[in-house]
Order: sequence, then structure tokens, then C-alpha cells
Amino acid sequence: MSEPLIVKKMEGPVAVLQLNRPHVLNALNLALMDELVEQLKQLQADQDVRCIILTGNHKAFAAGADIDEMAGVSLAEMKMRNQFMLWDLIPRFTKPLIAAVQGYALGGGCELAMSCDLIIASEKAVFGQPEINLGAMPGAGGAQRLVKAMGKARAMAYLLTGRSFTAQEAYECGLVTKVVPDELVLEEAKKLALEIAHKAPVAATLIKEAVYKALDTPTQVGMDFERNAFYMCFGTEDCREGMKAFQEKRKPSFKGR
Ligand code: CAA
Repeated sequence: MSEPLIVKKMEGPVAVLQLNRPHVLNALNLALMDELVEQLKQLQADQDVRCIILTGNHKAFAAGADIDEMAGVSLAEMKMRNQFMLWDLIPRFTKPLIAAVQGYALGGGCELAMSCDLIIASEKAVFGQPEINLGAMPGAGGAQRLVKAMGKARAMAYLLTGRSFTAQEAYECGLVTKVVPDELVLEEAKKLALEIAHKAPVAATLIKEAVYKALDTPTQVGMDFERNAFYMCFGTEDCREGMKAFQEKRKPSFKGR
């Protein structure tokens, strides 16, 4: 039997999904993206899962969309293939998703990491959108998200030259949550995942949505969403439990309802 494209491991309330095409630096082919979204759907439905980590291996998170699968494809085929429909689903899953990045996160790999809610990166990680070197450009949100993260001046230069940038630079511009030594990436991601996993899941989901509203909509639209989301928290048992636990000077136990 061939190796799975995604290896899933459960660690309590945290699921770890590992991209598994090491012979091509985890190049993201259609089958792998299909499998990734399928796994995320299953984790979404699993009430015991509170947070998800997406990772690669020490050499590559992912070196981009699979070039062999794209070479020679016509405009019409590419349009009808509609491959990014699956990618667009990734930030829409409601459970917090952390990218644990070692090695290359290039092209679609960088876009995939940026589609996650948080990024923990190795100090040796290499980010970039080198599609221009292939006569192409980002297609899974790279031009949008990079500009929002680092501003037009720097993003434009990286997109037009295809040059890569370091984890430290990614951290300084706010693209990456934390940079850690290479061997600690997964450990640090798990620590963060576990901390989030113990928070109230409905509030976590609403916070995610509110943050994306801040990025994607005018302030007043985001404010209106945020206000209603705040009210929605008061419809949950977890909100009652959280406030009661504070008053009783004990740790809350959140159930996700
Ligand atoms: N697609 C297909 N295969 C890939 C790949 C990719 N994106 N990236 C690496 N590979 C394969 C290589 O072809 C090579 O396979 P073989 O051993 O069979 O020759 C294997 O992975 C190892 O790669 P290298 O020998 O090139 O490794 P290296 O350490 O010398 O270089 C690298 C590493 C700089 C990342 C180089 O592999 C590279 O430049 N890769 C392509 C990066 C890229 O252009 N990504 C953008 C893709 S397009 C895209 O992502 C579009 C989008 O917006 C979604």
C-alpha cells in the first residue's frame, strides 16, 4: 500500500496533520489538497478536537503547488480544474489551525501557511512566493495575504522578484506568531495548540471570524460582526461557566456549548 499523503496523529484535544510527500518537498498536488480538506472536514465534525496543527518535515513545510501537475496545462483546463476552491475552504474551518513550519514554505506552501490562523516557524524556515520565476503568479491568496501582512512596499518587491524571506522577517512583519529553534517547532506549536484547546471553543471560533472580518471588511462591518459575536457568547454555557469560575476563584471547564 502506498504511503498516505497526510499523516494524522491525535494528542488529546489536538490533531496533528503532517503533509507527507517528502520526495518532492511536500509539493501540493491535487490529491494531497483533496485529502487535506477531507481530514479537516473529519476533524471539524469531531467534538473532541479543539485545535489542529498542520506541519511538514524538517526540510519543507511545502515547496509550492506541484509544478509537474501544472506544467503544460492549458488556460481552459486550469480554469475548469478550479483547484483553489479547496484551498479557499481552509480558513473557513472553524477550529483554530496552526501551521508549524520548518524548511521551505514557498509558493502554494507559503499560501497554505498563511491560510492557517497562526504560524510557528523554525528560525531556518524560508518563505516566499517564487511563482514569477515560473512565468506565473500566486493563485491561492499569496498576493492578497502577503500585502496585508507586510504592506505593499515589501510584498510587491518579494512578489516581483520571487526572492525568499526569512522567518525572522516574517515574524517582524506580523506574518508569523513565533520563531523558535528548528528542533522545537512542533513542540512549541503543540504548547500553543493545547493552551488554545482549553479555551471556550465557541468563543475561539467567533474570535477567528472577527479577526478575519478585520482583515477583509471595512471597520464598521467588522465592528457590527464583533458586537453580535460578543452577544452570541452569552448564549453559550461556556460563557456562564467562565464567569462563574472567575467568581468562584477556580479554573473553568469548557464544554464547547
Ligand atoms: N513541484 C514539484 N516538484 C517539486 C517542487 C514543486 N513545487 N519543489 C520541489 N520539487 C521536487 C524537485 O523537482 C526534486 O525532485 P527530483 O528529486 O525528482 O528532481 C525534489 O523535489 C527536491 O527538490 P530540489 O532538488 O530542487 O531541492 P533543492 O534543495 O535543490 O531546492 C527548492 C529546493 C529551492 C525549494 C527547489 O526545489 C524549488 O525551487 N522548488 C520550486 C519552488 C516553487 O517554485 N514553488 C512555487 C510553485 S507554483 C505555486 O505554488 C502556485 C500557487 O500559487 C499555488
